[in-house]
Amino acid sequence: MRQSSLVVVANRLPIDDNQAPDGACEWRRSPGGLVSALHPLLRHTPATWVGWAGGTGPAPTLPDVDGVRMHTVPLSHEDLRDHYEGFSNATLWPLYHDAVEQPEHHRRWWEAYQRVNQRFAEATAEVAEPGAVVWVQDYHLQLVPGQLRALRPDLRIGFFLHVPFPPPELFMQLPRRAELLQGMLGADLVGFQRAQAAHNFAQLVTRVLELPATDRRIGIDDRVVRIGAFPVSIDTTEMEALAARPDVAARARRLRQDLGDPRQVILSVDRMDYTKGIEQRLKAYSELLASGDVKVRDTVLVQVAMPSRERVGQYQILRERIEREVGRINGEYGRVGEPAIHYLTQPFDRAELAALYRVADVMAVTPLRDGMNLVAKEYVAARVDDTGALLLSEFAGTAAELSQAYLVNPHDLEGLKQAICTALRTSPADTTERMRAMRAHLHQHDIRAWARSYLSALDESGALVSRLTRT
Ligand code: ADP
Ligand code: F6P
Repeated sequence: MRQSSLVVVANRLPIDDNQAPDGACEWRRSPGGLVSALHPLLRHTPATWVGWAGGTGPAPTLPDVDGVRMHTVPLSHEDLRDHYEGFSNATLWPLYHDAVEQPEHHRRWWEAYQRVNQRFAEATAEVAEPGAVVWVQDYHLQLVPGQLRALRPDLRIGFFLHVPFPPPELFMQLPRRAELLQGMLGADLVGFQRAQAAHNFAQLVTRVLELPATDRRIGIDDRVVRIGAFPVSIDTTEMEALAARPDVAARARRLRQDLGDPRQVILSVDRMDYTKGIEQRLKAYSELLASGDVKVRDTVLVQVAMPSRERVGQYQILRERIEREVGRINGEYGRVGEPAIHYLTQPFDRAELAALYRVADVMAVTPLRDGMNLVAKEYVAARVDDTGALLLSEFAGTAAELSQAYLVNPHDLEGLKQAICTALRTSPADTTERMRAMRAHLHQHDIRAWARSYLSALDESGALVSRLTRT
C-alpha cells in the first residue's frame, strides 16, 4: 500500500459514480461545497483522499485525480441507509441546522455511524505514512479523529466541520453527545466556520465532559486540543478567470437572449435542501408577482435546484413541494414562452455555472442556516465587471464576511420581499461599490488562505503549508 504525508478524509471522494444516459458508469465531480473547496487545493499535491465513491458494494479502484490518489471506502446498502442517509443526514444534519426539520434518533443509525467511522479510520491508518498530517472533514466522520488516534498516535490529526455547530440547547438532544464530542477531541486542531461554533463546542465540552475549555484550547488527558474559526472559501482567481473567458461571456449573452432579454435576471443556485430556504424564496417571489411589484416580462427568476440525498424522506417531500409551487407560480403568472421561473435540476459544468453567474443581476442566496455557502462567494468572484447585487441570508456563514451584501432574514417574508425589491432597484453606483469591496475580500481570503491558516495551525513545522500553497 502506497502511503502519503498528507491524507484528506471526507465522506465523499471528489468524483462519484454516476449512471450515464446509456446505462454505463461514468465519473463526475461530486456535488457540494466540500469538494468545491478542497479539490482545487489538492490538485497536483502528492496527497491521498480517503472517501466513498458514491455507490454500494465493493470499493472500486479509481485512477488518481489531478495527481491526488483516490482511496475508496466501501459502503454496503445498510451503511448507506443508516450511516449516510440516517445518522448523518436525518439526525445530525437537521439538528446542526437549527432543527428546521425534526431530527430523528435511532439506535441502529448510531451503530452504523460508529462502524463506518471505524472503517474510515482503519483505511486512513493504512495510507498515512509515519508522522503524516491527516485532515478529517465534516459531520459524517466526527468519531474518526478519536478512532484514528487510537490506531496511529504518531499522526498529526486535524478535523474541520463544514456545517454549523449548534448551540448546547440543540446538541444536548443527541443521545450519544458525549461520544461525539470525545471523537472530535481525538484531533489536535478542531476547526469551525465561525467563532460562535467554536464557542458552542467549548461550552459543550465543559458541560458534558467536564473538561477545562476556553474558546481556543481544551485540555484532555495529557494533550491540548486547539479549536478555532477558519472560514472556508473558493478558488477566487480560478472563478474570475473562468468568468472572464470570451466563450463564457458569449454564453452569458446567449443565456440572456434565451431568457427573453428581460430587464433583470434573478438567480438562485442551491442543492435541493430544506436548509436553503427555497420555499420561502418562492413564496416571497410569488407574492411580489401577485402584487405587481415584479412583472414577468421585466424580470425572470432562474432557480437551479440540484437534487440531493434523494432517498431521505424529508428531501423527497421538499422536492414535491417545490415542484408543485414552481408549477403553480408558472401556471398563474407565466405566459406562453415566458415562464415566471426557469427551474433547472441538472448538474452544470463550471463554465456554465460561471455564465449563469454572469447573467444574474441579482443573486438570491437565502438559506435558513448554512455553515458557509460557497455559491455566494462564487457569484462575487464571477462578477468581473463589479456589477450585480448579492442578496444574502444573515444565517449563512458567508454573511459574517460579505457584509456589503444586501443582508436579509429569510424567515421574515415581508423583509425578504422588500430586500428582493431593493436589490432589483438599487443604483449601479451602490452595487458597484459593494461588489468591489466583496471581491477585494475574496482576493485576500481565498481557498489557499484558508488552507494556509488551518494547516499552519495544525502543522507547526510549516513544511506542508509551503508545499500546498505554492500550487
Ligand atoms: P453545500 O455545501 O450545502 O452544497 P455550497 O453553496 O457551499 O453548499 O456549495 C455548493 C457547491 O455546489 C458550489 O460549489 C456550487 O457551484 C456547486 N453546485 C450547486 N449546484 C450545482 C449544479 N446544479 N451543478 C454543478 N454544481 C453545482
Ligand atoms: O457541506 C455540507 C455537505 O454535506 C458537504 O459535506 C457536501 O459537500 C455537501 O454538503 C453535499 O452533500 P452530500 O455529500 O450529502 O451530497
